[in-house]
Amino acid sequence: MDPTQPAPPTSNITVRRGEPLVVVEHVDKHYGELHVLNDINTVVNRGEVVVVIGPSGSGKSTLCRAINRLETIDSGSISIDGQKLPEEGAALAKLRADVGMVFQSFNLFAHKTVLENITLAPTRVRRMSRKAAESEAMELLDRVGVANQAKKLPAQLSGGQQQRVAIARSLAMNPKLILMDEPTSALDPEMINEVLDVMVGLAKDGMTMIVVTHEMGFARKAADRVLFMADGRIVEEATPAEFFDHPTSDRAKDFLSKILDH
Ligand SMILES: Nc1ncnc2c1ncn2[C@@H]1O[C@H](COP(=O)(O)OP(=O)(O)OP(=O)(O)O)[C@@H](O)[C@H]1O
Ligand SMILES: [Mg+2]
Repeated sequence: MDPTQPAPPTSNITVRRGEPLVVVEHVDKHYGELHVLNDINTVVNRGEVVVVIGPSGSGKSTLCRAINRLETIDSGSISIDGQKLPEEGAALAKLRADVGMVFQSFNLFAHKTVLENITLAPTRVRRMSRKAAESEAMELLDRVGVANQAKKLPAQLSGGQQQRVAIARSLAMNPKLILMDEPTSALDPEMINEVLDVMVGLAKDGMTMIVVTHEMGFARKAADRVLFMADGRIVEEATPAEFFDHPTSDRAKDFLSKILDH
């Protein structure tokens, strides 16, 4: 061995791109009797793309919402970029600004134009000038392929276009992390790919992403890691190839046989 060369990386199932950005440790949450998050532990490194899949009711959305502090947790800890999630106040607002969130149901402001939807937070929260915010917004709209829709209201756009605007809006805050909860589930089939293409582009650009989706093509193409959840637990954590080709748990085998048969 050449002592001037760094040691080869030790075997590791995951692609570890950077230092930890999101650290989830022993997180528990109940809704009454229901143990909706059961001892959740995971680390998402900077630049990693993690796809979360699992049956309905397994806790995927709750986990996403907990990471963005839209839900409280009973115990355990979640930190982002070395900072424990604040309970409330200015520190929480700052954290929210650092974490982009894209939902199934676009959630654009209906009475504001596409351009205004993008510039609102940067001008109000980041105190950017309108001119600078608009020029950045136009670049982002161009990046997601809807620059020609800037003056329209959301209702005048297709679902796929609206979701791409929602992605551009989350990017406008220059987030450290983007959480997406079933971003293509509400879309007509012919619009799914235009949104997935934008998501693959973000992944290639090195954006750290946690994506709840049943789009297996996206998971295979873009994910570094798949988390499979069932009954509030992370049952499997593996690379997409390992997970889809060699699931180890009965729960995952059963789930995959159901979704892949269609
Ligand atoms: N506010 C709430 N109050 C009580 N129970 C809730 C609440 N929100 C979610 N639950 C329950 O917690 C469980 C997990 O819900 P969650 O939305 O996280 O599941 P999910 O994995 O995202 O499911 P889906 O694939 O259907 O979106 C479900 O049984 C749900 O009914
Ligand atoms: Mg959900």
